Amino acid sequence: MDCLQEWPEPIVPVQSLSEAPTLPDRYVKPPSQRPSVGDAARSLDIPVVDLAMLPGGGVVEAVSEACRHWGFFQVVNHGVSMELVRRFREAWRGFFHLPMEEKKRYANSPRTYEGYGSRLGVDEGANLDWGDYYFLHFLPCYLKDHDKWPAVPACLREATDEYGVEVRKLCRRVMRALSLGLGLDADRLQKALGGDDDGVCIRVNFYPRCPRPDLALGLSPHSDPGGMTVLLADDHVHGLQVCKDGVWITVHPLPNAFIINVGDQIQVLSNAEYKSVEHRAIVHAKEERLSVAFFYNPRSDIPIGPVPELLTVTGRAALYRPMTFDDYRLFIRRKGPRGKSQVESLEAMAIPGT
Ligand code: OGA
Ligand code: NI
Repeated sequence: MDCLQEWPEPIVPVQSLSEAPTLPDRYVKPPSQRPSVGDAARSLDIPVVDLAMLPGGGVVEAVSEACRHWGFFQVVNHGVSMELVRRFREAWRGFFHLPMEEKKRYANSPRTYEGYGSRLGVDEGANLDWGDYYFLHFLPCYLKDHDKWPAVPACLREATDEYGVEVRKLCRRVMRALSLGLGLDADRLQKALGGDDDGVCIRVNFYPRCPRPDLALGLSPHSDPGGMTVLLADDHVHGLQVCKDGVWITVHPLPNAFIINVGDQIQVLSNAEYKSVEHRAIVHAKEERLSVAFFYNPRSDIPIGPVPELLTVTGRAALYRPMTFDDYRLFIRRKGPRGKSQVESLEAMAIPGT
């Protein structure tokens, strides 16, 4: 496991490169991976679900449809205070605008990824993404450590605490809809995730201006490894793209909405009824972009496999062998974003005849 102790080479924050006139070679993607926004896809966007009537009003059906066909949806009337969202976002914007020396005090290592960082994966000489981030643990409590969160701006820790509590509540409501949408009891998926021992990590993504947005990506294609992700998009600048039937679709976030997507663990629990879908982030020449991914995860030391009742209801065989989230996460931390190869390699290990 030594390979996970330290970065293989010195870390260069992308922010420190963003005023350069040319894009350094390491950020140039091979032609097949460069972002090209097709005109054909302009009119398509991910479904929007109004949560006001949850669990009634057809919300369960809408969420279930979205998770089966898109793996992504936006939610409005989600119950999280917009005043809090603004305060939280501005605190983090403030952090990324601090002088570099100040931010580097929180520099992370690949052991836990907590803190200020600029790369995922530890392969030396790897092609890199045009983005910096801050990663922290919110739950379980024994992993949460305020000393590893920025002390400046002064309101950041409090805003992040409040945000974490509120968005977790939202996740638990959405989990009930996901469960009902599979024909299971409302609390069944939550139970399978570990009940009240759920986990939460937060990654604040900061994508600086890029001299050649046509050659780079802010975040390479990946599916999220955890249970479900609630993304707070930038309030002005778009950048998230979702792969739909092989085409990259740009998401246009509605004001005051969150973007929710299925992670690999819910794909596994639902035996692939719900799909975790590949997504990526593009960057811009004139505008920086800030987004916050709230990763809602299972308890990390319990086996996660297809829910048995679901196999009975659908009469389908289990596609996955149970694995803990701790073990699953190790793949990703070594390799960085790799499309959907992780969850697909789990499928390859499925047990025939079960
Ligand atoms: C992520 C992610 C997309 C974005 O952090 O996992 O997919 O728009 N972010 O920043
Ligand atoms: Ni993601």
